[in-house]
Amino acid sequence: MTELPADPRDPRGLRHDAPMLAAWLDFTRQAEADDLLPMSVPGHKQRQDLVGAVVAGDAPFYGGLDTIKHADNLRVESERRAAELWGADWCRFSVAGSTHGNQALALAVGQPGQEVIINRTLHRSLLLGLVLAGLRPVWVRPDIDPVSGLPAGVAVPAVRDALAAHPDACAVFLGDPTYVGTISDLAGHAAVAHEAGVPLIVDAAWAAHLGFHPELPPHAIAAGADAMVTSAHKALPAYTQGALVLARTERLAAARLDRAFEATHTTSPTGSIMASIDAARALLAADGEWLCGRLIRGVAAARKRLREVPGVDVLDGPGVEPTKLVVLLAGTGAHGNRVEAAIIAAGMPVEMADRDTVVPIPTIADDEDQIARFAEVLIDAIGRHRGAPRQLTVAASWTVEPQTVLAPREAFFAPNETVPAAAAIGRVSAELIAPYPPGVPVLAPGELITAAAVDALREVAADGGRIAYAADPSLHTFQVVVG
Ligand SMILES: Cc1ncc(COP(=O)(O)O)c(C=O)c1O
Repeated sequence: MTELPADPRDPRGLRHDAPMLAAWLDFTRQAEADDLLPMSVPGHKQRQDLVGAVVAGDAPFYGGLDTIKHADNLRVESERRAAELWGADWCRFSVAGSTHGNQALALAVGQPGQEVIINRTLHRSLLLGLVLAGLRPVWVRPDIDPVSGLPAGVAVPAVRDALAAHPDACAVFLGDPTYVGTISDLAGHAAVAHEAGVPLIVDAAWAAHLGFHPELPPHAIAAGADAMVTSAHKALPAYTQGALVLARTERLAAARLDRAFEATHTTSPTGSIMASIDAARALLAADGEWLCGRLIRGVAAARKRLREVPGVDVLDGPGVEPTKLVVLLAGTGAHGNRVEAAIIAAGMPVEMADRDTVVPIPTIADDEDQIARFAEVLIDAIGRHRGAPRQLTVAASWTVEPQTVLAPREAFFAPNETVPAAAAIGRVSAELIAPYPPGVPVLAPGELITAAAVDALREVAADGGRIAYAADPSLHTFQVVVG
């Protein structure tokens, strides 16, 4: 291979193992040199004199990274490399997040009307996947840790019992790790699913780094799952929206997976997102163990330091993946939203905060000093907002016990009407309503609206939380199924 001169835009030389990245670097260099006059989309034509720098680096995958006729060869080669790294038979890169990946996997199993075993603490994207695919959920629930009020993984016997009670179910879908980094026995889940003759599919949105260091749990494919979706933009240094869908083809057919993936993916993926997934995969292959080791050490030190602060606790132990930092505030009396505002003001936005919890997302991009610096700013913010220690309350997202009256798809398409909150109780919800984050629906299409669910949502709103996807986020009215 001819050695290219070092490119400051690719400081680690990842292009040698990342064909999409190499193509993106070449295309954007040509564009920057003003050597292109594209008579094709995107409409900005690589010019920055119209809408400005906001389109810098945008290169279409088809017709930019390679010609429209040949770009699939480039795609197949990069996705093959990712499949190999994760030990999968099939892989696709998505520019539409794990949201799209979850929906593609819902479309890849069974037939409309069939049941799937699935955890109710699922992300809303997967619930909408059930709507798209017409699958009927059989809910399983995680255990709630009484000390933290947060969900643990789903226990294997819960899935085994559900499969025994629903022998026609066509798949098991689990979210693992949970939003707060707790993990379940995926190998055990794979064994019971396979005993029942169905695939295990894992929403591992937060876990693109798992399996790349001996102290980390294995990733879902290594644990025996048949498919997993993961957000390259969450745990890895990829562009926002970048995600991977990976599968084994013993129980899932490659052609059906492709059809399902293409059904809702854009026909115009951006090359920058695709190339960044490729680059993140090459980075993991080259330096994943070292980077994950650094992150594990940084988080371990932060957990230790935070625990020294009176009233502060952190999630820890063998059931929590070692790179997750979940900070528990009830013992300090500080309100998580106020603590969050203080750390945002210090330039350190976090992924999530509610009254009792703050969830920052350290990743392999952070070094130990950065994580330590964040911990000190957090400790200072907690100190400035201390109050009387309180009992923790368990968030509605983790405790919801829905009564499913209609399948999500039936309710989604049923005639509906808008009624005042008081009149909505006892009716069937036509809409999905989720405090976000974590994006776990408290009400889903087809579920009975109970006073408990309405009260729980109102509590979140009153406490400053975001009520997402509701037609009326003030919660004065609800959309219900007619009849
Ligand atoms: C468990 C889980 N699955 C899927 C998603 C969707 O991921 P994305 O934002 O990449 O579409 C999220 C987003 O936070 C999530 O928490």
